[in-house]
Amino acid sequence: MDNRPIGFLDSGVGGLTVVRELMRQLPHEEVVYIGDSARAPYGPRPAEQIRAYTWQLVNFLLTKDVKMIVIACNTATAVVWEEIKEKLEIPVLGVILPGAAAAIKSTTTGKIGVIGTPMTVQSDIYRKKIQALSPEMNVQSLACPKFTPLVESNQLTSSITKKVIYKSLQPLVGRVDTLVLGCTHYPLLKPIIQNAMGKDVKLIDSGAECVRDVSVLLNYFEINRNRDKQELKHQFYTTASAKSFADIAETWLNYSIHVEHMTL
Ligand code: DGL
Repeated sequence: MDNRPIGFLDSGVGGLTVVRELMRQLPHEEVVYIGDSARAPYGPRPAEQIRAYTWQLVNFLLTKDVKMIVIACNTATAVVWEEIKEKLEIPVLGVILPGAAAAIKSTTTGKIGVIGTPMTVQSDIYRKKIQALSPEMNVQSLACPKFTPLVESNQLTSSITKKVIYKSLQPLVGRVDTLVLGCTHYPLLKPIIQNAMGKDVKLIDSGAECVRDVSVLLNYFEINRNRDKQELKHQFYTTASAKSFADIAETWLNYSIHVEHMTL
């Protein structure tokens, strides 16, 4: 047993898609979340900057005495997960490997699409990880730099959002049977992405997939939270406006939360 919280980080609100899944699958676990919305999006930034920002978020989470860290951001996972995992003594999970494995499981034609930020797509990490597991897979990746700002500004269903999504996804329509949402912000746009791709395309939520691995590790290391130890005190921090963060978070999580502004 370990009653300490699990730490989550993202460039902004995207990691909440992982937290929602955690609350569903592991409702006894406590969460500390930090979103760096003041500096989002990370995707178009140089690797060195993403690395430095991510370490700041990790160090903040460590001050909260977390028992595990989930890098709930594909971009940060692509750039710096391996380094963080090696340096820390607590388990550190990224979102890319679980998404890659789930895509292989889902596809029947071997044609997998991946959408993500410019950095995630440029790193080619999904193709590498997918083909390392299953070399026959055909992976087509597409950067969608306009999606994260739409989510950060809470434009989840506007007509502009629809137009942007339909236009951006055109190159992949009809060419894949499985699409990895390789950015944790994208599940907030899932209904429109599904419509744009067609109902037969299976969407893989890499962050949600990673919660299964959280569960496996909690069991393996026997660090689950004691269920009798009530009550949960989740903590949410953002580097931008607490109100804007709470607006998106409360609707998405269907849960009333307290958000604090944090300067890093
Ligand atoms: N949510 C992030 C990801 O999964 C980053 C989006 C961004 O800041 O560009 O990649």
